[in-house]
Amino acid sequence: MDAILVRGGAELNGEIPIAGAKNACLTLMPATLLTDQPLTLTNAPRLSDILTMTTLLQSLGAEVQPLQGGRVLALSSHDLTSQHADYDIVRKMRASILVLGPLLARYGHAEVSLPGGCAIGARPVDLHLKAMEAMGAQMDLRDGYVHATAPAGGLRGAVIEFPFVSVGATENALLAATLARGTTEIRNAAREPEIVDLAQCLRRMGAQIEGEGTSTISVQGVTQLSGATHPVVTDRIELGTYMLAPALTGGTVECIGGRMDLVAAFAAKLDEAGIEVTETERGLRVTRKNGPARAVNVVTEPFPGFPTDLQAQMMALLCTAGGTSVLEERIFENRFMHAPELMRMGAKIDVHGGTATVTGVDRLRGAPVMATDLRASVSLILAGLAAEGETLVKRVYHLDRGYERVEEKLRACGASIERVKE
Ligand code: UD1
Repeated sequence: MDAILVRGGAELNGEIPIAGAKNACLTLMPATLLTDQPLTLTNAPRLSDILTMTTLLQSLGAEVQPLQGGRVLALSSHDLTSQHADYDIVRKMRASILVLGPLLARYGHAEVSLPGGCAIGARPVDLHLKAMEAMGAQMDLRDGYVHATAPAGGLRGAVIEFPFVSVGATENALLAATLARGTTEIRNAAREPEIVDLAQCLRRMGAQIEGEGTSTISVQGVTQLSGATHPVVTDRIELGTYMLAPALTGGTVECIGGRMDLVAAFAAKLDEAGIEVTETERGLRVTRKNGPARAVNVVTEPFPGFPTDLQAQMMALLCTAGGTSVLEERIFENRFMHAPELMRMGAKIDVHGGTATVTGVDRLRGAPVMATDLRASVSLILAGLAAEGETLVKRVYHLDRGYERVEEKLRACGASIERVKE
């Protein structure tokens, strides 16, 4: 099994190109199921989660052709052969549930296994199912599968009011509503940039959508959608992760393709912590010049708030910040699994329920640590960059789900990091 070996202590200086967003690409790819014409996605990230979605779509009979080394994905659902999303693929990735809405909208039925994904809390899919029900679908849970059937004549436009914000459920509802009869209003919709990106792509395909990026999205259903070419939006989580690297080690890193509007709440916290973030012509430049960061309090929230997907990485920074920080995780239960691993590196962290109190120490010490999920794994790498001595991060298959060429990107800025076999 692969592991990542980090020798800490080097200041980072240089530039890091930011890839297209994994989470946007994972919701854009199932949009192919809505049309028999080709959909081309450019700026796609090269990640194992994208390969999993590729396998899932291919199992339904869709064509997914990676071009330019995977940077471009040419998709076609001209000849779909199946509406059955199998457990063996779905269990690897929770985002697989996103084929439900499109299959139901175009074919009137779907069988989708209940998903797996990162072990960060219960993560049910009840809101996805309720959204389909609101559009008239009959949902039957049997043998670990959702068996969904649209009413005769197809899904009907409806008012879908979510009790709380869900990115995935908003995406599934939006995908399905494009081909539903009549108007759908999605209330308490997620406002994440990935939703905006999906709406823009669907509009290119001929969908009639208004209000993406706000809490109410209106969709006027159309009878069919056409093909399109769409560039995947920049990955704001990869961006935030690499913005933290010089914040931990000192130095200056320019994140190419970075946009302030994607990470405003996060950048505001860095500023509060004494880390300088400036917009450049090509992206965002981050500098830590005067000693370690200052403690800050962080609460994770749906966009435009501080993203839960940057909480673990932010914790790595706060482990060596001056003073005591409080991190409150409000999106997922059980998302502090990186805390005990950071403590093995000498961090002082107290976790009580959804709150972690971090008291900064002068220096972390390298140690063998275990990645427990995608964002946790990269937080351990960040901590390793700032630690004294060697950190060996095990179980990095989590990392490969969401970060492309992480060791190359960091090495180019002067980090001592390599992939090793255990
Ligand atoms: C997406 C992102 C993930 C990110 C999360 C929150 C993708 C592929 N993944 O996940 O990286 O951490 O948004 O920003 O885009 N919930 C329910 N019932 C549901 C759906 C969700 O109770 O039917 C709960 C979840 O358990 C969680 C909260 O709602 O506590 C938010 O989850 P949601 O926004 O749906 O996250 P995902 O779409 O799974």
